Amino acid sequence: MKIALIGYGKMGKAIEEIALQKNHEVVLKVDEHFAGDILSELKKADVAIEFTSPDAAFGNIMKCFEATVPVVCGTTGWLDKMDEVVRTCKEKNQAFFYSSNYSIGVNIFFELNKNLAGMMNGHQQYDEVFIHEVHHVHKLDAPSGTAITLADQIMERIQRLKTRRNYSAQEKISTVKREDELAVFSSREGEVPGTHIVKYISGDDEIEIIHKAFNRRGFASGALLAAEWIVGKKGVYGMKDLLNL
Ligand SMILES: NC(=O)c1ccc[n+]([C@@H]2O[C@H](COP(=O)([O-])OP(=O)(O)OC[C@H]3O[C@@H](n4cnc5c(N)ncnc54)[C@H](O)[C@@H]3O)[C@@H](O)[C@H]2O)c1
Repeated sequence: MKIALIGYGKMGKAIEEIALQKNHEVVLKVDEHFAGDILSELKKADVAIEFTSPDAAFGNIMKCFEATVPVVCGTTGWLDKMDEVVRTCKEKNQAFFYSSNYSIGVNIFFELNKNLAGMMNGHQQYDEVFIHEVHHVHKLDAPSGTAITLADQIMERIQRLKTRRNYSAQEKISTVKREDELAVFSSREGEVPGTHIVKYISGDDEIEIIHKAFNRRGFASGALLAAEWIVGKKGVYGMKDLLNL
């Protein structure tokens, strides 16, 4: 498979390493300094994998549609434009795959989160519900796309929670949080690849689930799997379509 890497930073490089091990060919590498004709270069690829930055993702996805190349996007922090991407993809009969998190482990964690939230709906005594995400200091968006997905899953299932509010990790939960609020705390520390904690606290006990990535390989191999899968397809897809969870 001929792959175009749009974004050649930490994730682009991690994907390249696995792609070459699997005998794929990387025919294009684009970073923010790329000066070539991206449209004609993209046309040489079977698939594009986009991991850039929140302000660049939308434009890059549109270029892939224009070049008629299926695109797998992992960039977070741009989802206000998702409706437009989905509409354009369908209008132009193109292929688009998105996940805020390509790790198989995180997608299993999403299912666990939904099940736990469903059970917690009937148990009002767990009146402190929060998510804590920790990432490296270079991450541009907060909360993480994964934390937002976890929060949406919880909000859909727990009726007593009416709003989601974002906090920095320094804020103390007991002094700031309202009972009908799902608090999302974001910490930025060193080179942490990604940790997500979901916690329910009552007066008597607490329940906590954690996913901790050790490195970027899990995200990279999931994105590559999505790229292998989407070639030859048309439409809008996510991890649910790829994995039988
Ligand atoms: N979905 C997931 O599983 C997952 C996992 C890890 C990271 N991410 C997200 O992926 C994105 C990239 O993460 P990273 O750690 O590789 O970041 P990074 O900063 O290491 O790399 C970003 C790359 O994008 C390039 N870039 C920036 N603007 C560009 C533009 N306009 N056109 C082309 N290239 C451009 C930069 O030059 C750089 O090569 C972030 O949004 C991050 O949150 C998602």
